[in-house]
Amino acid sequence: MKNNWKDKLAIITGASSGIGEATARKLAAQGLKVVLVARRADRLEKLAEDIRANGGTARILPADLTQESDRLRVCEEAGAADVLVNNAGLGWYGYGSDMSWKTAWEMLQVNVEAVVQLSLSFLPGMRRRGAGHIINVGSISGSIPSQGIALYGATKSFLDNFTTALYRELTGTRVHVSVVRAGPVRTEFGEAALSKENGGHVPTEHVGVTADHVAWRIWKLMLRPQRVIYVPGWLRVVPLTELAFGWIIDQVGPLMLKKQKSVNG
Ligand SMILES: NC(=O)c1ccc[n+]([C@@H]2O[C@H](COP(=O)([O-])OP(=O)(O)OC[C@H]3O[C@@H](n4cnc5c(N)ncnc54)[C@H](OP(=O)(O)O)[C@@H]3O)[C@@H](O)[C@H]2O)c1
Repeated sequence: MKNNWKDKLAIITGASSGIGEATARKLAAQGLKVVLVARRADRLEKLAEDIRANGGTARILPADLTQESDRLRVCEEAGAADVLVNNAGLGWYGYGSDMSWKTAWEMLQVNVEAVVQLSLSFLPGMRRRGAGHIINVGSISGSIPSQGIALYGATKSFLDNFTTALYRELTGTRVHVSVVRAGPVRTEFGEAALSKENGGHVPTEHVGVTADHVAWRIWKLMLRPQRVIYVPGWLRVVPLTELAFGWIIDQVGPLMLKKQKSVNG
């Protein structure tokens, strides 16, 4: 497939680890200029150095995406994005009633508000220039409400709905909006979730595909835009599972959460 993305500008949020880091490496290796966004500036700088050492172009924009002022700065300083990968996100596992408002607020800011603010900021330019791609890193949990991740799943459902509606609005143009419905991926996600107040072990934290695999699928998506991709592909059956077997999940789900919480103490 022809690579029309060479020398285009890609902004990747959450580039300091996991899927974001792997995606930044992948896109830079394909000739895109990457702008790396996350809070841990030391990690971003190290990644940018690696990319440059391999002949790529990278710039860092350290930012805390819970803060509107930081988000505005990213929108102002990043440049005219051809690609925006809204990847930064955080999770938390446990009974929804045990979640602190601080964690809930942080999750809403990063998983929802930052995605909306960055998308609304970069989309008009893409439409004016008649080309671009916004890729929102969602989760299969957005399609199947699950015990233990009530708010997290809801943020990813929001992403699904928002992305699909934008995709439909832009049909027939060369501006694409896609959502990646990922299943478990082996990253620092579980560790970050556990570090939050009252956070439990995410049951899938040690299983799943690699971040490099997700990055590869994101690159394929840029070459052949689609509204939604599932990673891994077999997860496409999950929304059907919810429709057909939601009543079983109602019964079994709470038992799983109870078991997990008693293991964690
Ligand atoms: N891992 C999975 O099983 C899985 C499954 C489905 C979907 N996803 C989604 O994939 C995306 C990436 O997660 P990951 O698995 O790669 O986890 P990860 O390794 O923990 O990466 C999360 C990234 O988000 C950034 N981030 C978190 N809070 C931020 C903030 N306030 N401001 C700026 N950046 C922030 C982190 O950077 P700093 O800490 O440096 O700020 C980090 O780069 C998330 O949206 C997640 O929901 C993950």
